[in-house]
Amino acid sequence: MSKPHPFRVLLSNDDILRRIRELATAIAPDYPDAPPMLVAVIEGARTFARHLHKHLGRAVVIHEVRASSYGSGTVSKGTVDISSARPLAVRGQRVLLLEDIVDTGRTIAALRERFLADGAVDVRVATLLTKPSRRVVEVELEYVGFEIPDEFVIGFGMDYDGRYRELDEVVVYEAARAASS
Ligand code: IMP
Ligand code: MG
Repeated sequence: MSKPHPFRVLLSNDDILRRIRELATAIAPDYPDAPPMLVAVIEGARTFARHLHKHLGRAVVIHEVRASSYGSGTVSKGTVDISSARPLAVRGQRVLLLEDIVDTGRTIAALRERFLADGAVDVRVATLLTKPSRRVVEVELEYVGFEIPDEFVIGFGMDYDGRYRELDEVVVYEAARAASS
């Protein structure tokens, strides 16, 4: 367990892990022939990806893609930079994108467009969290852990300026709102 912290807990670690197990149960039958190519949007989705992967069991590697629409604050820049340490061979693959949180939708929209253009057979999305009220670009999310209100959250892999990823829970970072307004 992580150390005590001053943040308001939105989702406990138990809630999160239980929901990830349910997501895995929903995902597995949708890929009866072969496991999907798992692509985690780093850094934020690493923790989610690790837990989901454990339950999916069959897919061997988690690929990683870096996409940043955020600068150092909490406000989206509106453009998405996509990069990966290793080239992602998505041609002919069924890709399952793993994301921590979908906010404006720009990141997922950009990644799906890129992977489809690169020849992926289909691109689905599993996201731990979504903030529907913040959407700027409509995106289809096939597997959603939790819908949350318009709050900036941290923990379970999600950061504010590189901090707090290690928290076991998803908590509300109140100071972020003040900092961005
Ligand atoms: P989008 O392109 O606006 O949907 O932004 C998605 C990305 O923004 C996510 O992958 C996160 O990295 C980041 N993000 C959006 N909302 C939050 C939040 O509440 N906490 C931490 N990161 C967030
Ligand atoms: Mg992310």
